[in-house]
Amino acid sequence: MDLDQGAGATLETRAGSHAFYEGASAATTLGYGQNYLGPILRARRGGTARVSLANRLDAPVATHWHGLHIPGSMDGGPQMAVAPGAGLTRELEIDQPAGTYWYHSHTHGLTAEQVYQGLAGFFLIEDPEAPDPGLPDELGVDDLPLAVQDRNFSPEGHLRYSSGGMMMMNGMKGDAILVNGALRPVASVPGGLVRLRLLNGSNARIYHFFFEDGRGFHQVASDGGLLQAPVAMERLTLAPGERAEIVVDFSTGGTRLLSADDNNAMMGMMGGMMSRIMGGGSSPDNIRGADGFEIMSFEVDPARRAARTSLPATLPGAPNGEMAEPVARRRISLEMMHGMRGGGGMMGGMMGGRGGDSPGPFSINGKPYDMGRIDVAAKLGTTELWEVVTDGMAHPFHVHGTSFKVLNVDGRAMDFATTGLKDVVLVRERAEILVPFNRPADRQTPFMFHCHILEHEDNGMMGQMTVS
Ligand code: C2O
Ligand code: CU
Ligand code: CU
Repeated sequence: MDLDQGAGATLETRAGSHAFYEGASAATTLGYGQNYLGPILRARRGGTARVSLANRLDAPVATHWHGLHIPGSMDGGPQMAVAPGAGLTRELEIDQPAGTYWYHSHTHGLTAEQVYQGLAGFFLIEDPEAPDPGLPDELGVDDLPLAVQDRNFSPEGHLRYSSGGMMMMNGMKGDAILVNGALRPVASVPGGLVRLRLLNGSNARIYHFFFEDGRGFHQVASDGGLLQAPVAMERLTLAPGERAEIVVDFSTGGTRLLSADDNNAMMGMMGGMMSRIMGGGSSPDNIRGADGFEIMSFEVDPARRAARTSLPATLPGAPNGEMAEPVARRRISLEMMHGMRGGGGMMGGMMGGRGGDSPGPFSINGKPYDMGRIDVAAKLGTTELWEVVTDGMAHPFHVHGTSFKVLNVDGRAMDFATTGLKDVVLVRERAEILVPFNRPADRQTPFMFHCHILEHEDNGMMGQMTVS
């Protein structure tokens, strides 16, 4: 859907129904103008993307443009929820590198469940002024946006969601992996280079992607646009909210995309409890294999000719990562178990889930999310150095309204050539990032910064920032 042509697009948030796999009965879902997920939105740098949101649900919906460099008043944070039956029109001025971004629900306290039910979609930015990087770029043919999401199904094929107990602590994970809403789909590809725009649109699961036959591939873009040159790899880790564009060579035939299992549980020994709480595993069986999950398959169609057969050595037009010297240093501490010492104690808090408007048990710098509090006041046009530390569990840390540069993660210096511009960084212990503030945000519509495990976000691991 082209946004800077004519009237743009209208996205209606509505309930739908969708049978996710062979033999499943139709599950109740949510979508943007469709049964599950939303259309791929495309906008051009230098243009104005017009989007109208109409809410046909009986719950409020805030829709956030993840990765977009737009003012806080356009950003779609929890303050900008659209009431049931109401609508809202946005004019998004696009001025940032071409790349794979996305949009999703950001409703106060309901983000995790609404995204899980289907409120998410791709937002692709093209830059007509940038030189051609020489990559496959025929959308749907040799350029495939792939939203990867894990889900838990009841035996009849209905989506099951729980944010209580361990699901809140670890984030909601399911062992059925969907790609664009389909279980283990098969893509027909030309026998040459194909670009895959991978989005980890899961609530909490971290993927370690690899191909079954061991073939290598090249990463050509990360969250905020192209890398300066393709980076060869065999395995790619993607945390919730992150994107990576990879180029795979199918001239030698098709293969399957798999993901190794990830154990980012707070207490591994309690893992079994999760499936008991959920009442057993997923019904589409044999989903979790010995070496992880099957994500999808690629079959080469001999009748299709590949437009690209060799990768460029460098990617002209890639952002160079130059940033101003930081004017401030800030420590952001991501914590769980906030306030668990009192009241019902740890188990009481865990089992209670979230109650009404009181978030918890997660916090940042000791404070659970508060819609009425500003946690950071940054100065427009400056850059800050943020030190992000965790409580020992891995948290994908995200900042709205900007793209940042990762200096180091867990003791390893990061090379801009391999990371590119980011808006989510997976932090297991400690990371330092350089964050530029080039879009304004006021007290009424501040930018969020938070953990992208959506159950952590909904339960307090989020802060608010003004930029002026
Ligand atoms: Cu992808 Cu605050 O979100
Ligand atoms: Cu965001
Ligand atoms: Cu987290």
